[in-house]
Amino acid sequence: MLKINDIRSGYGDVTVLHGLNIEVKHEIYAILGANGAGKSTLMKTIAKVLPLKTGEVYFKDENVSSFTPYQIAARGLAFVPQEGQIFPKMTVLENLSVGGLLLDKKSKKEKKEKMEEIFDVFPDIVQRLNQKAGSLSGGEVQMVAVGRALMQNPSLILLDEPTSGLSPKYVDNFFYKIKEIHEKKGVSVIITEQNAAKALEIADKIMVLTLGKIHLIKDAKNVDMCMIKEGYRI
Ligand SMILES: Nc1ncnc2c1ncn2[C@@H]1O[C@H](COP(=O)(O)OP(=O)(O)O)[C@@H](O)[C@H]1O
Ligand SMILES: [Mg+2]
Repeated sequence: MLKINDIRSGYGDVTVLHGLNIEVKHEIYAILGANGAGKSTLMKTIAKVLPLKTGEVYFKDENVSSFTPYQIAARGLAFVPQEGQIFPKMTVLENLSVGGLLLDKKSKKEKKEKMEEIFDVFPDIVQRLNQKAGSLSGGEVQMVAVGRALMQNPSLILLDEPTSGLSPKYVDNFFYKIKEIHEKKGVSVIITEQNAAKALEIADKIMVLTLGKIHLIKDAKNVDMCMIKEGYRI
């Protein structure tokens, strides 16, 4: 699905990621690490929002290293940034429709079916369709942000700390939804998370990032909290 060869990236002259090699299959791949470890930088680099300093990114066997964010999105990679980034002045329906714009070549009927699929996953959205997105709660904003990403009909979705700022009641539900999106909709998932225990519950693979370097990559079933916590010590 995604292969990253020895990438370096960062901001201006500052290098944040120091030569990472990663392979993501059709799975839920969780990226953990302390604040400032470089999780968001990695997500932005994969989504092509940040340019590579060196290295290559392959998405579905295609070298996408020099792609724009739009080009990689059109290939089937959807990115939900940490800040959610919905359009507050637009309605929920309009926000979802923006995601569908990438499906330009698809018929109206197909777009409508895609929208129905999203209502299946997030039924709570339906009663909010005509409400301005800026008036939603934190949990509802995340549903709309993920719903909009799913409107792109992605094969891989990147979720950058989707549960930060959500109340505990929403968090469990949200993790369950992510699992459902993976299992029922066949979407591969890369998720960054502060809550390592929660990530372990749903992830197939765990990667721990420490100061822009890989501390460990393991199958979730072979990892315990001690191994993960070592990566949080700086
Ligand atoms: N826009 C930016 N400009 C300069 N430095 C940044 C910017 N965003 C993040 N950084 C720096 O990059 C490092 C990694 O940040 P980030 O990827 O946001 O970590 P995480 O998501 O794991 O908390 C930090 O040292 C942070 O200060
Ligand atoms: Mg972050």
